[in-house]
Amino acid sequence: MAEPKENLQMEKIVSLCKRRGFVFQSSEIYGGINGFWDYGPLGAELKRNVKELWWNAMTRQRDDVAGLEATIIMSPAIWKASGHVDTFSDPMCDCKKCKKRHRADQLCEDQGLTLGKNAAGKFELPAGTKCTGCGSTDLTEPRPFNLMFKTYVGPVESDDNVAYLRPETAQAIFAQFKNVLDTSRQKVPFGIAQVGKAFRNEVTPRNFTFRSREFEQMELEFFIKPDEVIEALYGSVASGSSRVCENADDPRSDEARLPQPNWGWQVWHQYWVEERVRFYEGIGLARDTLGFHHQTPEELAHYARACTDILFKFPFSKKDANGKVTGDELEGIAARSDFDLSQHQRFSGKPMGVFDDELRTAWGKLPKEKQDDLWRRYYEHRKNYLTKSAKPDETTEQIQKQATEDANGLAKGQYIPHVIEPSAGVDRLILALIAKAYSETTETDAKGKTETTYVMKFHPRVAPIKVGVLPLLKNKPELVKKALAVRDLLRPWMNVYYDDGGSIGKRYARQDEAGTPFCVTIDFDTLGEKPELLDTVTLRYRDDGRQERLKIAELRDWLLAKIR
Ligand code: GLY
Repeated sequence: MAEPKENLQMEKIVSLCKRRGFVFQSSEIYGGINGFWDYGPLGAELKRNVKELWWNAMTRQRDDVAGLEATIIMSPAIWKASGHVDTFSDPMCDCKKCKKRHRADQLCEDQGLTLGKNAAGKFELPAGTKCTGCGSTDLTEPRPFNLMFKTYVGPVESDDNVAYLRPETAQAIFAQFKNVLDTSRQKVPFGIAQVGKAFRNEVTPRNFTFRSREFEQMELEFFIKPDEVIEALYGSVASGSSRVCENADDPRSDEARLPQPNWGWQVWHQYWVEERVRFYEGIGLARDTLGFHHQTPEELAHYARACTDILFKFPFSKKDANGKVTGDELEGIAARSDFDLSQHQRFSGKPMGVFDDELRTAWGKLPKEKQDDLWRRYYEHRKNYLTKSAKPDETTEQIQKQATEDANGLAKGQYIPHVIEPSAGVDRLILALIAKAYSETTETDAKGKTETTYVMKFHPRVAPIKVGVLPLLKNKPELVKKALAVRDLLRPWMNVYYDDGGSIGKRYARQDEAGTPFCVTIDFDTLGEKPELLDTVTLRYRDDGRQERLKIAELRDWLLAKIR
């Protein structure tokens, strides 16, 4: 596997992932394919658990989010409207000497340099940039490389049949916004959630599964009222509190987290950052293992007005200019304004706005001055958007006319919702959980023989196997029969692993490596050797090896309370 040799911790993790069946290189028997990874038996369970927990937290546990499962290939018009056809690219350059291909921004970053742009807006390598393959400074000028995978729909490979594998799940949500709104009985503010595959033809996939060409996203598009609408309805917009989510000692109180009707986009944005941090805490990534990056205006994607990245300190994460490791992105929470719905309205010709009767009534009761003020602000916002995304043949008059029409819509109760988007990468999260869980201990015995043991300390909620069921001896039919009965009792409720092979110590060690938080052993006391212990089992904790006795009748509920 193509991991840099100098990152020992990553090497160990990659090796354990393969050895224990968490992650395999895709197509390994044919030499692999760069940027693609398969999840083995334990990885598949871990991933499934994470996706299910996200889905539950984001949809089933909430009244204000509905789910969606859209196709991977959609009309190419969607990607034109979203801006991906024209702007979704990374700068790429080649070494003229050894022919190695680089992502130009990463190449600069790795050498403590910053990729610049010339007066014409074209990327320019700073002087001294070297090829990391051969050290030559003879590199081609960086050129944009579109990251979308292209294919053809139907048998004819012509321009008319071009389609793309989706580079994000988000656009399907925008494209289906009206259908979901009409069928789910939701009203703004509400969200649409989707989990699914996305594809990016990365120039240089790296850091194991962190940057892959095929990956999975868990995305929520949460639609909110524009601030002008909030102001018309409630007189003012609740102002943003400080970014308390960063402070481990002072998370926002539960009360402060209850959504309020007068929240504007900034408070909603902070709310979602906090919600997402709580999700990570709930699966074993404590707040102090996370970092935050508030994107600068230069870093923001073309659609965003703000974005907070939640970071995790991976073994490959680099030090910043102050020598501090801040981490790499697990999830971005972007405020996308009304950009996406507006684009789809313009490109499809279908209205993407909503009608709000309360707004119409409230608007009619506003003093003329307030109406004018809000109208002007909304007009300016729409004019800015329309100017930025104008087609070449659109005139200023046409733009002003459209912005006027949009602002006039407020009086009729019409507006295009804005969006807050928590967008998480499943594979990155899996890697973070594996990196966090990984622990090794090396011990030397009296004869000087050293042995290293590995324990994957997953939170029980995400652990691939929840409980190992082990008969003390496999050649005692009564023990085996009882152990199988315990397995069958638990199986409908959780992932159970029955193991009767080898010494009990070896079996515990196998489960420790798999990250199984609990093992239960069926022994002679279970069968009533000590009558007072009849129908009890030994329950062993993975992280400290502690053991206690539990009644079989109480086992299921005890375990469910730990893993849910
Ligand atoms: N939808 C945001 C992203 O894919 O990064």
